[in-house]
Amino acid sequence: MGVGHWMQGICVIGFALLLCAANAGGQEQPRLNLMPMPANVQSGSGSLRIDSSFSVALTGHTEPRLDRAVQRFARQLSRQTALPLSANSSAKPTLTVQTDRASKDVQELGEDESYTLSVAADGAKIEAPTPLGAMHGLQTFLQLVAVSPDGFAAPVVTIQDKPRFPWRGLMIDVSRHFIPLDVLKRNLDGLEAVKMNVFHWHLSENQGFRVESKKFPKLHTLGSDGLYYTQDEIRDLIAYARDRGIRVVPEFDMPGHSTAWFVGHPELASGPGPYQIERRWGIFDPAMDPTNEKTYKFLDELVAEMTKLFPDHYFHIGGDEVNGKEWDANPKIQEFKKSHNLTSNDALQAYFSGRIQKIVTKHGKAVVGWDEVFIPGVPKDIVIQSWRGQASLAQAAAQGYHGILSNGYYLDLGWSAARHYAVDPMSGPGANLTPEQQQLILGGESCMWAEYVNPENIDSRIWPRNAAIAERLWSPQNVTDVASMYARLHTIGGELEWLGLTHRTYYPQMLRRIAGSGATPDELAGLRTLADVVEPVKDYTREATAPAEPSSATPLNRLVDAVPLESDVARRFGERVDKYLASSCRDADAAAQLRAQLSIWRDNDAKLQPLTQRSFLVKEIAATSQDLSTIAGIGLAALDFATKGSAATDEWKAQQLAVIEQANKPKSQLLLMPAPPIQKLVEAVGAGGSCGSAK
Ligand code: ACM
Repeated sequence: MGVGHWMQGICVIGFALLLCAANAGGQEQPRLNLMPMPANVQSGSGSLRIDSSFSVALTGHTEPRLDRAVQRFARQLSRQTALPLSANSSAKPTLTVQTDRASKDVQELGEDESYTLSVAADGAKIEAPTPLGAMHGLQTFLQLVAVSPDGFAAPVVTIQDKPRFPWRGLMIDVSRHFIPLDVLKRNLDGLEAVKMNVFHWHLSENQGFRVESKKFPKLHTLGSDGLYYTQDEIRDLIAYARDRGIRVVPEFDMPGHSTAWFVGHPELASGPGPYQIERRWGIFDPAMDPTNEKTYKFLDELVAEMTKLFPDHYFHIGGDEVNGKEWDANPKIQEFKKSHNLTSNDALQAYFSGRIQKIVTKHGKAVVGWDEVFIPGVPKDIVIQSWRGQASLAQAAAQGYHGILSNGYYLDLGWSAARHYAVDPMSGPGANLTPEQQQLILGGESCMWAEYVNPENIDSRIWPRNAAIAERLWSPQNVTDVASMYARLHTIGGELEWLGLTHRTYYPQMLRRIAGSGATPDELAGLRTLADVVEPVKDYTREATAPAEPSSATPLNRLVDAVPLESDVARRFGERVDKYLASSCRDADAAAQLRAQLSIWRDNDAKLQPLTQRSFLVKEIAATSQDLSTIAGIGLAALDFATKGSAATDEWKAQQLAVIEQANKPKSQLLLMPAPPIQKLVEAVGAGGSCGSAK
């Protein structure tokens, strides 16, 4: 013990000196690498040393879930530090977790998730009303532990924390590509780490019905290619989620997006059939027959079965994107519309939604639906999930409906973390609501649609960007600093790997497949350099630019499937160009760094060339590789002008900008991200540009 205390004393003194130095320079205290940022943080001085004597004690309310949370915490801490931690109880625990009372047996929306965490040099304490807060506190503590010059340590700090919104979710589509249970579990671990508390499980689609139904087994046996979850597996996942403070909301998408149901049950459909599992992506005609009483009898029995399986109070009925073509083509449905005075297909869908809602309510649950179900007259206990725009969220709230925001949080669209981060449920039309109306906005959900993801690359499409959305939904509204977000996102991105998430490790593996196992280290490095600066095309342009119609049979093995959706290298290059231009091209360090980077890019195509001959997956990106070399050469020439202080001629500038414009066009569904910042450099060195005149 003597040695431990002695070391700790040194550590505190060392830290205090550091703080003095920082204060003398007028800088802020060392920032905490926490994500989401807690509601209230008061930093102290000194730190708590974390070594293999570390121990945790639970006080107050206890339950097996808390024991498991502590075991998980210890395992995680041990992974992060490689300290051998034993589960031995200790007379003087390093960390005490005081929990006041149990939370609800089935986790409910709006339960108390608050906690306080105080770290002192001689011990730490988490205090929480319920296990939900206690578990959040443990995650925050894990994020505080960092390597320091003299061992692992957590800084002295007092944190009071609670979420801004009670509904903070991630939706995963497991139908377009089946996502196995173990992949879902590691993503739930990720949700726990960033304090998200809802897993919205999009379980049925045109491309697959993924739940075992004992009542109607043809749903999963004929509608899933054998890729479905058994009811035991579903119970297992729900228990896994509950252990992590996460609710599981199932979605059965109706009356559209339902072709897979009709393979075994064509009698539910509005068309004559027969039906097959859909293999393509998009919006399709098949829809349930809302005029047939047998449809409702079937759905009543299915909902009875599924509401027993899924304990959450909320049950998602989908409702999105019904094109109405099967309804228009069916004379019996046309007749029904007339006789029931339903003047449009929207009205017919409202009729269907109303009937389903009664069924769901009868089985003790409340309905969630995509914003298409928000039709005048729908009952008030529905939750609207706004995906087509933020306006429907505000409109729903203005009329007394609860809502959650997903527009702006679609992870599959390939937006930057900064762009997602800027989307706030209370901004835009939501800002004009009264405080009472704003209370109806419950939070939001990020959405991982699965046209272009599979078990291999899905983690990289969710993480780390999802952590920025998690922060938006947890942290105070004024936590908006993008530079801080990116710095912390980088840290949490690394920490998430300790959970077994593969969002970083998949990448070199996929690049090796693209290059072929015979690729030399130099060739692989060349591929990596190019891959690090391209991004997949954004929004829905992937379909529009596909070389052949994509489907579930299309292998996800191209560079567009392998590269992260946001290029860190290109973002940092862009920031450096901005810094350089802001200095009117006087910042010599920035110039040297830009020159070094541009030289690597200029010379990269030569490294990659041999691979373009050997691998069709590299051949596809040969033009992009040439573009990178070309525009890097242009960037270097622009830097030469800037360094010499001479303006480029208009003719030179026009020629280079034309070349960059070509390179800026998507090729093989990839965007070359350094093109816009290099364009800025070229523009700046011409006559009249910020760096174009002699200094
Ligand atoms: C949706 O994106 N169709 C909800």
